[in-house]
Amino acid sequence: MPRTTLQDAVVLVAGGAKNLGALIARQAAEAGADVAIHHHDEASRAEAEDTLRAVEAAGRRGVLLSGDLTVPEACTSLFADAEAALGRVDVAVNTVGKVLRKPIAETDEDEYDAMFDINAKAAFFFLKEAGRRVADGGAVITLVTSLLAAFTDGYATYAGGKAPVEHFTRAAAKELAERGISVTAVAPGPMDTPFFYPQETPERVEFHKSQAMGNQLTRIEDIAPIVRFLATEGWWITGQTIFANGGYTTR
Ligand SMILES: NC(=O)c1ccc[n+]([C@@H]2O[C@H](COP(=O)([O-])OP(=O)(O)OC[C@H]3O[C@@H](n4cnc5c(N)ncnc54)[C@H](OP(=O)(O)O)[C@@H]3O)[C@@H](O)[C@H]2O)c1
Repeated sequence: MPRTTLQDAVVLVAGGAKNLGALIARQAAEAGADVAIHHHDEASRAEAEDTLRAVEAAGRRGVLLSGDLTVPEACTSLFADAEAALGRVDVAVNTVGKVLRKPIAETDEDEYDAMFDINAKAAFFFLKEAGRRVADGGAVITLVTSLLAAFTDGYATYAGGKAPVEHFTRAAAKELAERGISVTAVAPGPMDTPFFYPQETPERVEFHKSQAMGNQLTRIEDIAPIVRFLATEGWWITGQTIFANGGYTTR
């Protein structure tokens, strides 16, 4: 039977050190799960340690794992190490992403490769390992972007790099259905984290706000409960992209 609670589950969060990933990790622990927290950059280690302390403060076990998930072997090790430390993986959440706002004419090959490696390739090999390792009845969730439903300039490699994840999600949902594993993608609107601001002007931030209910950006607190729901009572939702953005974009 599919899992409808996180009590005594094991949740793996890729990019779980900070921002949205950290809140997902903390809320999973508060809901009774042990949590494997992945971070990538050494600069994220201190935040990863803070998140681990929060998991432990909630009375649950946690483990810190690291790796560049654009390397398929790192995805393999991530799941193997999470399983070795915490026994199994029931829910795997991938919050890994990289943004670039640049016209196509100014985008070079290295930028293109980095965007597709981080947003698409890492997501693919994370899903592949999740399919091998996630326990029957579990859930796999990938973070994409509401720009998948936008008609806008500048985000060709970001939205374009996230776009394949929808198709990976659909295929994986079909392939894992017989094991009761749901596979979904969550697409937040422009979200109030340090990830969002560097490529935007103050005027554009105001425009993004103006497109959502209440003239505001998406908050990590708006998204983490949706991830938790998809991993529990929302298990019947599979193969879908969930746009969560206060009305910012739709399709
Ligand atoms: N903020 C927004 O406006 C917004 C809107 C819609 C969707 N999203 C998506 O939501 C997710 C979370 O974003 P966020 O705002 O919470 O920002 P964030 O914390 O910066 O999330 C991005 C994560 O990707 C990790 N990462 C980057 N390169 C990696 C690599 N090669 N291997 C493994 N991990 C790597 C980063 O780790 P390190 O920093 O340690 O490298 C970081 O944890 C992302 O997928 C993003 O695309 C964000």
